[in-house]
Amino acid sequence: MKVDTLTKEKEGKGMRRILLTLSLVVMALALTAVNAAAISGVCSNCHTMHNSQDGDPVDAGGPYGQLLNAGCVACHTADTPVIQEVNKGPAVLHTVAPGGQGAGLTLAGGDFYWVNANQAVNASMGHNVIDLPGVTVADTNMPLADPLSPPGWDPVATGTAFVADQVASGEAAWSSQLTCAGEYGCHGNHAATGSFPGMQGAHHNNTGGTATQTDGTLTTIGESYRFLMGIEGLEETQWNWAETAVTHNEYYGEDSTVNRSAGGLAAYGSRDTISFLCAECHGLFHGTVDENAAPGSPWVRHPTDIDLPASGEYLLYNAEGAGGGLYSVEAPVARASVPAASGSAITLGSDIVMCLSCHRAHGSPEPDLLRWTYSTMVAGGGATNGCFTCHTDKN
Ligand code: HEC
Ligand code: HEC
Ligand code: HEC
Ligand code: HEC
Ligand code: HEC
Repeated sequence: MKVDTLTKEKEGKGMRRILLTLSLVVMALALTAVNAAAISGVCSNCHTMHNSQDGDPVDAGGPYGQLLNAGCVACHTADTPVIQEVNKGPAVLHTVAPGGQGAGLTLAGGDFYWVNANQAVNASMGHNVIDLPGVTVADTNMPLADPLSPPGWDPVATGTAFVADQVASGEAAWSSQLTCAGEYGCHGNHAATGSFPGMQGAHHNNTGGTATQTDGTLTTIGESYRFLMGIEGLEETQWNWAETAVTHNEYYGEDSTVNRSAGGLAAYGSRDTISFLCAECHGLFHGTVDENAAPGSPWVRHPTDIDLPASGEYLLYNAEGAGGGLYSVEAPVARASVPAASGSAITLGSDIVMCLSCHRAHGSPEPDLLRWTYSTMVAGGGATNGCFTCHTDKN
């Protein structure tokens, strides 16, 4: 009797297990169907219930928010030159020197390698994010009196009307160092303090590569371009690891027609462009570019969120070198509306200059996170890359 009951119980459990497995498979299939790009894999790949295994901590640095087994950076680090390691996220910190930036070397945002490897020397080669293991203090290049605020900080550049709320709560001088996400971060929701609270719900709700093309309607982190709350764009599925003129992220820009001489909130039209993301912290560089009330040349700061003119030297955009006049992954442009697929065609009078035409978002081997060596941009020197991709008459 006892044996029978046991067997029955075992069979029962077995059956329940099969049913459970089946329903998990069905659930997984359903989830994949709805949301192909969101997180997959067993929970324990990424989560730990108590940060404890056989009495030892799973990660000595933990426990982490959302019961994760690693912090943002650890999960987004790779030791070899790959896009991402198993059970980890896309690598924005490589621990071996990438040997340059761009295709096959870094993802679209560049890499934190340089600033992290030697902050004392390379502080200006990346954003000095406190979450990085090699970044201990604020950027040593910044003024001693105000070492934490971003250059060009404009506390009124982004109002609370904006969906992600204001960075640093709009305080006059920053009181905290840059974090990956949250109040003092680039990703996620700025109303929450710290990287994990700032990202709440993003990963499992990633709407994936096709991203977000509807103007002004973004309300969640997961549907925003690269978890940059409210920002639109088309996400290349490998984060540009194998970027070409044809295959790349598509950024959203706007040909601004408002007067941008006084800064502040009024200087912004669309607040979901990639340049607006940068302006959330470097507001003056986007909001005070016009000399006169009438928008246009002469400018007082390099313009962003303006059309590449269909005239003059811009007619030869990326045409003097081997670029064939197609989209340049070295000096890229944004689009007036985000296409459903990336393309190599350039439309003068419509494609748009953006902060990322010249800068990387995370870091690069160049000072000021630049996409090329500024010191080799010599007027009359014959080079065709970098600044000369657009200013084709100046070489
Ligand atoms: C590949 C890594 C990965 C796997 C696998 C994974 N998660 Fe997560 N999960 C994350 C990350 C990263 C976050 C935190 C950041 C965020 O919310 O975007 C998170 C957050 C969460 C959260 C809190 C935020 C929210 O979306 O509600 C819950 C709950 C959660 N996970 C449950 C699970 C469960 C249950 C499983 C297994 C079925 C699982 N996760 C598998 C990476 C993973
Ligand atoms: C346990 C591992 C893990 C942790 C911890 C983690 N991530 Fe991720 N992250 C992932 C994975 C896996 C993906 C890829 C998800 C996908 O393909 O949709 C990802 C994707 C991303 C992306 C790109 C999303 C896109 O649309 O392409 C960003 C940005 C990001 N994570 C930021 C963060 C931040 C900020 C934190 C800390 C709050 C964090 N991650 C913590 C695993 C992690
Ligand atoms: C959440 C705020 C924030 C956002 C958003 C942001 N930055 Fe920064 N940025 C900072 C801070 C703070 C510094 C100064 C400290 C440092 O370098 O980390 C800085 C420094 C810089 C520097 C100078 C680096 C140096 O050390 O001299 C450049 C260039 C830069 N940012 C470009 C950008 C671009 C381009 C974007 C948009 C892709 C952007 N930033 C978005 C906060 C931000
Ligand atoms: C046309 C190329 C170009 C564009 C577009 C551009 N920058 Fe720069 N930026 C540079 C160069 C070159 C430097 C370094 C040399 C200099 O400042 O003249 C620089 C420097 C910076 C610095 C460092 C300033 C300091 O005090 O050290 C920040 C911050 C910055 N840029 C942010 C931005 C933001 C934000 C945008 C978009 C609103 C943007 N840049 C657009 C080329 C550009
Ligand atoms: C993606 C294209 C692009 C790149 C790359 C670019 N520029 Fe520009 N630049 C423009 C456009 C467009 C204008 C505005 C032209 C106009 O208003 O007629 C401009 C304006 C300028 C002006 C001011 C002209 C005026 O009328 O006031 C200067 C100076 C300048 N750029 C220098 C540079 C330098 C230096 C670099 C490299 C660090 C650079 N640009 C990279 C597109 C670019």
